[in-house]
Order: sequence, then C-alpha cells, then structure tokens
Amino acid sequence: MFKNTSQHYGLLAIIFHWVSALAVFGMFGLGLYMVELSYYDPFYRDGLHIHKSIGIMLAALIVLRLIWKVTNPSVKPESEATPMDKLQNTIAHVVHVVLYLGLFGLFVTGYLISTSDGRAIEVFNWFSVPGIGELFDEQSDIAGTVHLYIAWGLIGLVALHIVGALKHHFINKDRTLVRMLKVPNATKVED
Ligand code: HEM
Ligand code: HEM
Repeated sequence: MFKNTSQHYGLLAIIFHWVSALAVFGMFGLGLYMVELSYYDPFYRDGLHIHKSIGIMLAALIVLRLIWKVTNPSVKPESEATPMDKLQNTIAHVVHVVLYLGLFGLFVTGYLISTSDGRAIEVFNWFSVPGIGELFDEQSDIAGTVHLYIAWGLIGLVALHIVGALKHHFINKDRTLVRMLKVPNATKVED
C-alpha cells in the first residue's frame, strides 16, 4: 500500500506528488503576488517569510521524494505497444526529469536571492538555514531574474504535464491518471 509496484504508485508517492503539486501552485501565485506589494504593505514581510519557509520545506520534501523514488520499483508506462506510445513515454519521462531539475533550480536561486546579504533563512521561526553570503556580484538581482524565468518555465511544463495526464485519461482511456489518484485495492495487486 505504501510502496510502488511496477503497475501502481503507492500511497507515499501519491501523497508526495499531490502535496508538492499544491505547494508549487501556491508558491507560484504567492511569488508573483508578493513582489508587487509595496514595502509598507502589512503582508510584505509575512508573504516573503511564508514563501521562503515553504520553499525550504518543499526542498526537503522533494529530496525525500527522490530518495523514496530510487528505493521503489519504477512504475511502468500504461502502454508501450506502438512506436508512438514509446515516443510519448520518452517525452513524459523527460518532462518529469526537467520538472525535478526546475524545482532544484528554484531552490538554489531562491536560496541565493535570500542569503546574498549573509542572513540566514528563518523557516517559520522554527529553525534557520544559514546563509553563505554573496558569492558573485549582483547575486540577488541575477538570481532573482533566473528564479522568475525558471518559475514560468516550470509552470509551462506543468501545463504540458497536465495536458498529457488528461489525454491519457480521456482519449487513451488508460489508468495513468487514476493510478496517481488512488491506491490500488490490496487484494488485486500483482507486482
Ligand atoms: C517551487 C518553488 C518556488 C516557486 C514556484 C517560486 C516562485 C517565485 C516567483 C514566481 C517569484 C516572483 C518573481 C518575480 O516576479 O520577480 C518568486 C520570488 C521570490 N522567491 Fe521564489 N519560488 C520558489 C521557491 C523559492 C525558494 C526555495 C526560495 C528561498 C529559499 C524563494 C525565494 C524567493 C524570493 C526571496 C523572491 C523575491 C525575489 C525578488 O524580490 O525579486 N523562492 N518566487
Ligand atoms: C493538476 C496537476 C497535475 C496532474 C493532473 C498530474 C498528473 C500526474 C500523473 C498522472 C502522473 C503519473 C505519470 C505516469 O504514471 O507516468 C504524474 C507524475 C509526476 N508528476 Fe504530476 N501532475 C500534476 C502536477 C504536477 C506538478 C505541479 C508537478 C511538479 C512541478 C508534478 C510533477 C510530477 C513528477 C515529477 C512526476 C513523476 C513521478 C515519478 O517520479 O515517478 N506534477 N503527474
């Protein structure tokens, strides 16, 4: 139930997927919203604090998710019958890898923006991640620009990813989407 099999995602992979998906959408919206606020807006400091705190928690979650992924069997694509299926499976796989890379790009650039003045990142006033200070000139501005581009690129790719999931569900009518939503009935699982 918790672990993946070659046919199904297990409960933990499903929870990891949907918690991170929700966090990514929230972080994107909050990021765009908060940079428009003036310094005197009451939410200016809190918005940034929440964005950085959730960002660090999400980074930890994605690391755990990847450890879980490599220690579990890989879930096979629903169909590998035709060359077209194989091409689409390869595209989906590349999209997944780039999504993970994009997330790490955001964590690194987010860290570089936040710590360029040497300050630590306070995570929900619970613990802090030390800053290493300015590593290159105009670090905050450059990392901020790259952060914004990666965020838009990631959301574009997520849109493609969602279209792919919906195509599997409504056009191919296979279980690709369902198996990321539901844990299989334990009595019917075959590995
Ligand atoms: C999935 C993860 C993340 C997403 C989708 C995301 C998205 C965004 C977006 C869209 C902006 C607005 C950029 C702009 O208009 O200039 C932003 C700004 C910012 N983000 Fe993130 N972010 C993520 C993770 C992080 C992390 C992990 C940190 C720090 C630890 C961070 C720190 C910041 C900071 C400091 C800004 C303000 C930049 C500025 O003032 O120009 N972000 N983020
Ligand atoms: C409404 C939004 C979303 C839907 C409907 C969706 C759907 C799915 C489905 C059906 C799969 C399984 C694909 C397969 O079995 O080959 C999957 C996997 C995956 N999704 Fe999403 N997804 C969504 C949002 C996101 C977001 C926001 C991210 C991250 C930025 C993301 C990252 C991934 C990754 C990395 C995998 C591969 C999992 C693995 O490591 O095996 N998804 N998604």
